[in-house]
Amino acid sequence: TERTLSIIKPDATKRNLTGKINAKFEEAGLRIVAQKRIKLSPEQAGKFYEVHKERPFYGELVEFMASEPVVVQVLEGESAIAKNREVMGATNPADAAEGTIRKEFALSVGENSVHGSDAPETAAQEIAFFFSGLELVG
Ligand code: GTP
Ligand code: MG
Repeated sequence: TERTLSIIKPDATKRNLTGKINAKFEEAGLRIVAQKRIKLSPEQAGKFYEVHKERPFYGELVEFMASEPVVVQVLEGESAIAKNREVMGATNPADAAEGTIRKEFALSVGENSVHGSDAPETAAQEIAFFFSGLELVG
């Protein structure tokens, strides 16, 4: 079993979609083992997305992630990283498969409702960015 970091992004929290998105994770066999709703400062959002700082959309992405509360969560399960990315769907909702979160809920490539870690190393880093060991209850 594996853990991954998930974020329900501002466009989704604003539209009150936390429960519907969580239902998708649980239906896919992912267990929510930690979860909190927080408002990121632009500095925190910028640090989280530092890997993208050279990309042209970085400023827009940071501003968006700090615009409204987000729900950060740790999902656990067999192949949780890959399974979560499958449930999320493609980054651009126009390319996302039927039944995925981004197909159903995302507004655009930027406001795409969810984030999910992309590899074991980034998952470990991203979980530690938001949660202490004490907050993780498997
Ligand atoms: P994450 O799970 O959020 O990391 O998405 P991803 O892995 O599917 O996409 P990627 O890591 O390539 O990009 C990170 C995030 O940057 C995306 O989820 C989008 O929110 C945002 N992003 C990517 N491309 C664009 C773009 O062309 N324009 C804007 N505004 N945002 C983008
Ligand atoms: Mg990514």
